[in-house]
Amino acid sequence: MGFNNFCSKLCMQYRHRRRRYFLLNLFVISLCLCAIFPFKYHIFQLSSNKPLSRNASSIDSSQKKIILNCTGDPLSTWCATEMKYCNSSLLIYKKLFFLTRSAILQTIHAEGKRVGGEQIQAVLNQAETDEYFHFKKNFLQIPCNASLPQGITLQYHLSKILSSITSYQTSANADLIVKESTIAVNRHDYANIYHTMTDLYTAYILCRFFQRDPKSVRILFLDAHPHGNLDIYWSKLFHSYSRLGHMKKYSKILYHEIIWAQPQAQSDIDVQRHRKQTPSFFADFRQHMLEQFHADSTANRTVNCESLQIFYLGRRNYVAHPRNPSGKITRQLPNEKQVLESLQKKFSGYSKLNFTYSYFEQLPIEEQLQTIARTDVFIGMHGAGLTYVTMLKPNRALVELSGPSWQSQDHFQQLAIINQVRYRQCVIQDESPTVAEKIFDCTKEKVLQLCPSIMT
Ligand SMILES: *[C@@H]1O[C@H](CO)[C@@H](O)[C@H](O)[C@H]1NC(C)=O
Ligand SMILES: *[C@@H]1O[C@H](CO)[C@@H](O)[C@H](O)[C@H]1NC(C)=O
Ligand SMILES: *[C@@H]1O[C@H](CO)[C@@H](O)[C@H](O)[C@H]1NC(C)=O
Ligand SMILES: *[C@@H]1O[C@H](CO)[C@@H](O)[C@H](O)[C@H]1NC(C)=O
Ligand SMILES: *[C@@H]1O[C@H](CO)[C@@H](O)[C@H](O)[C@H]1NC(C)=O
Ligand SMILES: *[C@@H]1O[C@H](CO)[C@@H](O)[C@H](O)[C@H]1NC(C)=O
Repeated sequence: MGFNNFCSKLCMQYRHRRRRYFLLNLFVISLCLCAIFPFKYHIFQLSSNKPLSRNASSIDSSQKKIILNCTGDPLSTWCATEMKYCNSSLLIYKKLFFLTRSAILQTIHAEGKRVGGEQIQAVLNQAETDEYFHFKKNFLQIPCNASLPQGITLQYHLSKILSSITSYQTSANADLIVKESTIAVNRHDYANIYHTMTDLYTAYILCRFFQRDPKSVRILFLDAHPHGNLDIYWSKLFHSYSRLGHMKKYSKILYHEIIWAQPQAQSDIDVQRHRKQTPSFFADFRQHMLEQFHADSTANRTVNCESLQIFYLGRRNYVAHPRNPSGKITRQLPNEKQVLESLQKKFSGYSKLNFTYSYFEQLPIEEQLQTIARTDVFIGMHGAGLTYVTMLKPNRALVELSGPSWQSQDHFQQLAIINQVRYRQCVIQDESPTVAEKIFDCTKEKVLQLCPSIMT
């Protein structure tokens, strides 16, 4: 008689019994449950909303061949610079990022003060170094019957992780197995949309490069940053995220595939790349983002000159960062309200122009993206919020307001080039009574480029 069969008999018997054998029955129920749902794979919650799928056969990344997609720049260079080690358990690309297969993470060798995910108010003023782990020898282990790579230096955390690698003989003692493809990200400024967007794009093109479906790829945060309002981007664009600090409840985790993403400073859309052209799969990234947040992603190169949407993004003080407890922001127009009123008045004289403004800090991300997706001319003060220029439809325009002291920073001009958006820097003097006039003139110039006869 099979165990299942035996169990179901006991279960039947249980129905006819009463309270007398309560404890015994409880035990029997447990046995029955065990037989019905064999716990072959570990069942646990990786992130708050989505459990790890147990459909192992369809998503086991160690069974999946790696066929690279080498379309465009930078993917073509990544393809050309692949280095294989340890029977392809370790693959390094352009000394920029790497991939491990069947690797074991020994979490005890990631040393740190925090686990990450705390509420901001609980960790105000904590040192930035507390939000990162130190990766010690044996943190990462791979099956390797050959010599491990020597003398290869990567940037920042990846160098530490690469040099922590040792080889293992057996993975039988792992207390958790993650079969799905995972991207490990060490975020820099998790509360800043510029840094977040550049990191998100990195993770997205890594998916395209290794031809993994972003919605089935797990994100592993290697940092210990507190919970942030932008974290939701990671669970929307990818399958889900988890934090290394929270994985410390397992001592050895076998990951069938981990892509160790390059740090933010090496993102292909970071200002330091000085990009002059759109990088690989950028339009797909934008579309994926807008779709995940239910914003209109249908790229329409044609501007509707019967109703041009002009949007001004305002700035407000807001606590989003443990090292800025007052939430006070710099680079704010001192008389923003007045400026906005007079802009509204000026634009209202033109029936085909629709001028609106909003503050994003307390608006749900869906509404932020929906607003940007329908904007034709985007106006805002130099600051991370202008990162949303990446989500404008191509062939639209950005008017960046900047003060004389930071006018040489070209982060958003770069992002505009990447998304094929027209760009205008509008240098304004803080206290000048003609600020509104100046902004209007800068905007008018872009409006007339998009729709030459709209203001007549
Ligand atoms: C599980 O995998 C099988 C085989 O690939 C597939 O047909 C099925 O739809 C998958 N189920 C789920 C819930 O993903
Ligand atoms: C790379 O991706 C593009 C776009 O999805 C696709 O057309 C192309 O066939 C892919 N290349 C390879 C080698 O799979
Ligand atoms: C190398 O990898 C292949 C495919 O994963 C495997 O079949 C083979 O046994 C490995 N060889 C060694 C020496 O580990
Ligand atoms: C490693 O190599 C040795 C000798 O080349 C061999 O005997 C052993 O089986 C290999 N181990 C694995 C795991 O491939
Ligand atoms: C694209 O723009 C044209 C012209 O303004 C408009 O007629 C059309 O409906 C738009 N298409 C989409 C998908 O928004
Ligand atoms: C003007 O913009 C607002 C906000 O985007 C929108 O609700 C409204 O429909 C627009 N009006 C016209 C005429 O396009």
